[in-house]
Order: sequence, then C-alpha cells, then structure tokens
Amino acid sequence: MTAIAGKLDSKILNGGQKLAVKYFMVAIVLFVAQVAFGLIAGLQYIFPSLFYEMLDFNVNRMVHINAMVVWMLYGFIGAVYWLVEDESGREVVGLKLGNIAFYVLTAAVTVVVIVYLFVQTGPGTHKTLWLINEGREYIEAPRWADIGIVVVILVFFYNISMTFMKGRWSGISGVLVLDLVALAGIYLCGMFFTTNVSIDQYWWWWVIHLWVEATWEVLVGCIMAWGLMKTLGARRKIVTTWLYIEVGLMFGSGILGLGHHYFWIGTPEYWLSIGGFFSALEPIPLVAMVVHAVYDSGVHRFKSTNHPALAWLIAHAFGNFFGAGVWGFMHTLPQINLYTHGTQWSASHGHLAFFGAYATINIAFFYLAMQKWRGNVWMSAGLADNGWKWKWSLGLLNTGVVGMTIALLIAGYEQSFIERAMGGSTWQAYFEGQMHPWYIQAMQWRVVFGIVTVLGVVLLVWDLLTIGRKEARTAAVLESPDTKESFKPSSTGAAAGASAG
Ligand code: HEM
Ligand code: HEM
Ligand SMILES: [Fe+2]
Repeated sequence: MTAIAGKLDSKILNGGQKLAVKYFMVAIVLFVAQVAFGLIAGLQYIFPSLFYEMLDFNVNRMVHINAMVVWMLYGFIGAVYWLVEDESGREVVGLKLGNIAFYVLTAAVTVVVIVYLFVQTGPGTHKTLWLINEGREYIEAPRWADIGIVVVILVFFYNISMTFMKGRWSGISGVLVLDLVALAGIYLCGMFFTTNVSIDQYWWWWVIHLWVEATWEVLVGCIMAWGLMKTLGARRKIVTTWLYIEVGLMFGSGILGLGHHYFWIGTPEYWLSIGGFFSALEPIPLVAMVVHAVYDSGVHRFKSTNHPALAWLIAHAFGNFFGAGVWGFMHTLPQINLYTHGTQWSASHGHLAFFGAYATINIAFFYLAMQKWRGNVWMSAGLADNGWKWKWSLGLLNTGVVGMTIALLIAGYEQSFIERAMGGSTWQAYFEGQMHPWYIQAMQWRVVFGIVTVLGVVLLVWDLLTIGRKEARTAAVLESPDTKESFKPSSTGAAAGASAG
C-alpha cells in the first residue's frame, strides 16, 4: 500500500481504521463540547446569574460529564476498530453493519444532547424517563437511547469478537473480548428504575465504578499494550505478561473496591471494611502500569515511531497513577471519606482521574490515527515545525487539569474542615464552608486553569489537523523483535510490526 507522506489518504487505512477515524472525529467534537460546557459551569460558580434560566448549571454540568463519558467511549470503540485488523490478521467481519451502527449512535447522541439543552425543567415521570433523561449522573441518556446504545454495542461486539474468531487470537485480544462482555453487560445495571434511592444508587455504581475502576482500566491496558508495541516496538511477550498481571490485580481490587461508594448510602455496614480494604489496594495495579510503561520506554531508549503518541501514553501511565491511584487513595478509607464525601475533593479526584487515565490514552490514539492517515508520515524526533503545537498542547492540557485539580483539592480540604469537622455537617455549616475565602478563591483559580485547559484543547485540535502536513519523510521503522516470531505483517495490508499501526 503506497501513499505519499504528508498527504491525507484514506486508501492507506484498512476497513476497521476507516471506521475508527469516524469515531475519533466525533470523539474530538464531543471533547470540545465537554470543556466548553465545563467552562460555563465553572464560571457559574463565580457568576451565579450567568445564563440563569437559559442554560442552567445543572444542564451544563450534565452535558459536561455525559459528553465526557460518551467521547471516551467513542475513543475506545475507535481504538479497538483501529487495531482489530492488525491484531487479528484479517478484515473486520460485518463492517457495513458497524458503519450503520456508527451513524445510528451518532444521530442518537445528537438528539439526546439537543433534548437536554431544550427541555431543561419539568416534572420527572415515566414519560420523561423514556424520552428526556434518566437522572442518573454520568449516564443520563433517556431509556430509548439506552436501548439504542445496547444494540449498537452488540453490533460492535459482534464485529470485534467475530473478527478475532475468524482471524487469530492473541493474549491481548482474548483479554479485550472478555472485557467487552463485562463492560457492555454492566451498562444494563444503570437502565432500570427503582423508587428506592439506595437501591437505585447501589446498581448505578455498578456502571460507574465498575467501568472506570475495572472494565475501562482493563480495556486501556489492552490498547496500551498494543500502543507500546507499535510506538516503541515493545516485545509482545513482555506486554502480554504485564497485561495479565495488571488485569489480575485490577479485578482483584477494583471489583470489591466498589464498596467505597456504599459507605453512606444506606447499605449494610460491612461495606465499610470491604470497601476500605479492597479500594485501598487499587493503586497497586496502577503502579504496575507505570513501571511497565517506563520500563518499555527505557529499554527502547524512548526511540519511537510516534513521539506525540508515546508522550501521551506516558502521560496516561502517570495520570492514571496520580489521578486514580493517589487522589483516589486519599479519600477512600471510610474514616477519611466521612469528612471528604461529596465535597470538591471528589471533583478534584474526578478531574485528574478521568483526564489522566482516559483522556490521555485517547489522545495518543488520535495521533496514531493521524500519522497513518497522513500517508504514514514521520512523527519521531525533529518534526518540520519542531512539533511545537503538540508539545504546547501537551503542556497546556496537563498544566490546566493539574491546576484545576489543586484548586479543587484546596476547596475540598477547606470544606472537609469547616463544613464537616468544625461545623458538624449542618445546613448552616454547608454554606459557611462555601463562603470561606479559600473556597471562593479556589473556584476562581479553577476557571483560570480551565481556560488554560481549553487553550490546550484548541491547540490539540489544530495540531491534529495539521501535524505532518509539511513532512515528506515516512514514519520511522523500528526493529521489532516480534516480526521474527509468529507475528508477520498481515495479508490485508494492515501495517503490522514495524510501522506505526
Ligand atoms: C481511572 C479511574 C478512576 C476514575 C475515572 C474515577 C473517577 C471518580 C469520580 C468522577 C468520582 C465522583 C463520583 C461522583 O460523582 O460522586 C469518584 C469518586 C470516588 N473515587 Fe474514583 N475514580 C477512579 C479510580 C479510583 C480509585 C483507584 C480509587 C481508590 C483508590 C478511587 C476512590 C474514589 C472514592 C473513595 C470516591 C468517592 C468520593 C466521595 O465520597 O465523594 N477512585 N471517582
Ligand atoms: C475547561 C475545563 C473544565 C472546567 C472549567 C470544568 C468544570 C467543571 C465543573 C464546574 C463541574 C461541576 C462540579 C460540581 O458539581 O461542583 C465539573 C464536573 C466534572 N468534570 Fe469538569 N471541567 C473542565 C474540564 C474537565 C475535564 C478535561 C475532565 C475530564 C477529562 C472533567 C471531568 C469532570 C468530572 C468527572 C466531573 C464530575 C465530578 C464530580 O461529580 O465529582 N472536566 N467540571
Ligand atoms: Fe470507585
């Protein structure tokens, strides 16, 4: 498959990758929407009358976090389609159906967002549950869309599992397919309605916690393993061994770690010990992931086929460890969570964890995709414009999110102290906590760093649209030890082994 380096050329992409690029494009649009609505919500903390009764805080917040979940899922689905032909050695099974599913899903997401924006108030009834929204934080989509999402995911699962079935299996694809069963299955737990809030929350956490602390982690473990092979030429045996260790530790701690959300919602008291103990173990697999990435990069002396992608993969390893592991650990013991629960402390952790663990690895795949789409162009050291755009957007995005995280941590610390420890969680103490200068200043700093984050996103989009345009060199070729083993370049033209995937 020949292509001219520096020129966009869809013909160089295999079928799965063509579909992946569509998913990535929608993901980026939703990422932009996410930060735009986040910024408005952040401004409303400082200027409460901003857009009052036009675009209320609750709506902005809902769009902000639902767009986040959806763009990350789009990114993951895209990443899996991106690697499936290469990993299985054959064309995607049922690609036409996969394409239809993409358009159906995207149309549904558009309708859901429009409804969120235009129907902001009103009673909550069975009808609104079906048509407007379900009112479950992060996964608010109304039931008609829920059902649509399940169908689309079934199509996705069919495409992927059948492709591996008819092609070849590997350690990575085995873990991936089993994980997709769990990931999709758990979504069903957030689809039914009960009038008892405790029971409702009990099941809702199965989706949210078991996604981000178990099934999503395993999914990114798989795509990280593949990404390290492609960008660094890491050995398959090594990445697969690490993957098994990480998956074992992740499920071993993350599943019962669920208990850290059952401390105060009316569930039995034994969850205090179970949740505290197992969730405290959750940082261990995250340390393993950092060691793994740093080890692989070091062994290969950071020589990579795609510098921006590798930089974002490393940002993922560290962001996951700090955001999820360290920031999660800080408030996961019930003795501490009693004071921090539901304060800005949680938001501090939420921002660093979602960004650090999941935004980063998606961005790495956007770069892998752009590289190949642009004719498998050079993206190693010494880019035409010195790569200032990707470096600055990497810097701005990480500075912005870390800055917001610190601001929110200060606010959360202050709330835990004044509202909880001193004021004893009374209604009055709640307001005292929020009127304290530390809190107010933290909210202002959050917006300052929010603007830095938005600048980072703008630069990222600009870079993705232009990177490699002025390059005539083709991608660096790595000597992959695996090409000598059983993994040879596949017959479908999917770039295996040495090229950048
Ligand atoms: C990438 C993985 C993770 C992500 C994306 C994530 C994200 C979040 C988010 C968004 C919340 C707020 C939920 C809400 O709206 O109430 C939350 C809560 C929480 N997370 Fe994580 N988290 C991750 C991993 C972890 C880990 C590994 C731990 C423990 C070591 C942890 C401990 C907690 C605790 C204790 C809460 C409850 C906070 C409260 O009581 O208000 N998280 N997480
Ligand atoms: C422009 C930058 C951003 C601003 C100004 C911003 C602002 C906000 C605001 C005001 C909220 C509502 C908090 C509350 O209810 O008290 C929020 C929630 C949230 N945002 Fe952002 N955000 C930004 C970017 C991001 C990014 C990049 C991510 C992750 C990739 C993210 C993830 C979240 C999460 C998970 C929540 C829910 C937290 C919780 O319930 O504890 N945000 N954000
Ligand atoms: Fe959790």
